[in-house]
Amino acid sequence: MSSSQYTLTAQELDILSSKAIAAKAMAYCPYSKFRVGACILTQSGEYIVGANVENASYPVGTCAERVAFGSAVVAGHHDFKAVAIATDTDPPASPCGMCRQFMNEFTAPSFPVYMYGSGRNYTLKTMRELLPDSFGPDDFGGEKVPSP
Ligand code: THU
Repeated sequence: MSSSQYTLTAQELDILSSKAIAAKAMAYCPYSKFRVGACILTQSGEYIVGANVENASYPVGTCAERVAFGSAVVAGHHDFKAVAIATDTDPPASPCGMCRQFMNEFTAPSFPVYMYGSGRNYTLKTMRELLPDSFGPDDFGGEKVPSP
């Protein structure tokens, strides 16, 4: 990880991972029983969590990462420092394709994604590694309406 804007202190990583792991308890996953928790650290120092929320109509369910990033964005955050994602599986699961694209909207190629399984060990990957050759806001030819 080269960019200092994405360098976490040991304390930040400890809080981030603890909140992602704790967020698994909030998952609504009666169908898959596969709990996923997520936590984002904003550049302003806030922690925003999410968990997967399933639905009786299966495709309607939402992943933890999109719940977390959606919550962060509607809370007014667009600048993020890191995300942690926690599952109960070893090795840790990594984000689905739809979540990679969703996160790509708000993150740079060197943005760090920390993935936790059942313990405190993690796998660390950048967005560039998870979604190479991505299509993002800079590739969008149309005019973007400014955010409020
Ligand atoms: N899930 C996530 O929350 N994040 C991912 O990146 C992969 C999958 C959820 C969706 C569904 O509720 C359950 O895990 C099983 O696929």
